[in-house]
Amino acid sequence: MATPMAVRTFSKSLPRSTASATSSLRLAARPSRANAAKQFFQQSSRRHYSSSHDASKSSNTGIVYGGVAAAAALAGGYYYFTTTGQERKKAGIPEGVPEVHLKKGSADQSVGIFTPTAEDYQKVYNAIAKALWEKDDYDDGSYGPVLLRLAWHASGTYDAATGTGGSNGATMRFAPEGEHGANAGLKSARDFLEPIKQQFPWISYSDLWTLAGVCAVQEMQGPTIPWRPGRQDKDVAFCTPDGRLPDGSKGHDHIRAIFGRMGFNDQEMVALSGAHALGRCHADRSGFEGPWTFSPTVLTNDYFRLLMEEKWGWKSWKGPKQYEDATTKSLMMLPTDVALIKDPVFRGWVEKYAKDNDLFFRDFAGVVKKLFELGVPFKEDAKPLTFKSTLEE
Ligand code: HEM
Repeated sequence: MATPMAVRTFSKSLPRSTASATSSLRLAARPSRANAAKQFFQQSSRRHYSSSHDASKSSNTGIVYGGVAAAAALAGGYYYFTTTGQERKKAGIPEGVPEVHLKKGSADQSVGIFTPTAEDYQKVYNAIAKALWEKDDYDDGSYGPVLLRLAWHASGTYDAATGTGGSNGATMRFAPEGEHGANAGLKSARDFLEPIKQQFPWISYSDLWTLAGVCAVQEMQGPTIPWRPGRQDKDVAFCTPDGRLPDGSKGHDHIRAIFGRMGFNDQEMVALSGAHALGRCHADRSGFEGPWTFSPTVLTNDYFRLLMEEKWGWKSWKGPKQYEDATTKSLMMLPTDVALIKDPVFRGWVEKYAKDNDLFFRDFAGVVKKLFELGVPFKEDAKPLTFKSTLEE
């Protein structure tokens, strides 16, 4: 059977001395999808991507107008071509996909409306995946974790009571929200995605960021996350107030207050937290330091396993209060993470996910889809798209 080191992963890998302490844990926790296909992928390496890039569309069509800018195009007297609901259905265009108005070159000449298809979104996915695998000189070898965090912080501002915030808007582009303490470090993720936005100017930032979150999870060997397009960017006036995202130094009441505000139940809160199998804390961003697991670029249920099976004590250092594992002292948990094993209801779910990676993957896929759709006014019959990961091809 393939071991984590034998298949292609982003990870530059943590020191072996620390990794060995839970190597049995990791082997047992490997998702069953670590199979021969992935080994083949590893061998075929980057040439794999040579056919996935499609710049033709964007380079031939010139400047693209979308959302608010479309109104400006109208004012300039450009021609519009509209498609009826029936035509869209016939062409296989998912419900809720916005039409994008295209302008040719510098002349005031319209080339019509671009209506992205499922294939077009797969091309965006492929471009993000390609960049993820190519730009491997970041952190533990991947931008994947920070891309997921960008998508989560864009979505996690949602307030169900007022219907404000959420992934529709991408208002973190603007200073008032981008500079919230919780968003420190996410500029690296936004900058990473900027060339993709240039390559596919028809996609909204809000769709791009959430699609990148989906791509990050899947490329880090997580489950397939169904995703729907249709988010529209909003202007600076829609920035959310500071304080809507969770504070890692707090306990179970805080978790329930923050995620309850978004509309999540206890089980969903625990499943979402499993994302901390990925990535790390950075002292210069959050003040906290270190990774939660030994494989921070591969999604597994190790976060739950480690929570249950390790002994967690306070780290002795000058930084904010955080936990470290007794065995290697190289892993960390936030107070909010440990709150999940202190609270009896949360703990029940941690136990379940620690024992059953498939259950975790199933629930994680469902709840991440819900997270990325917070505050998005999709049409009721909008059908989700699923993307092929490069590991599956
Ligand atoms: C109680 C809830 C949560 C708290 C308090 C929390 C807090 C944090 C903190 C303090 C960091 C470190 C940031 C840094 O220093 O760079 C972090 C990283 C991260 N969080 Fe969370 N988080 C929570 C929930 C979530 C959820 C729901 C997700 C996704 C579904 C998520 C995904 C991530 C990822 C992937 C990273 C790693 C980022 C990187 O490596 O740059 N977190 N989180």
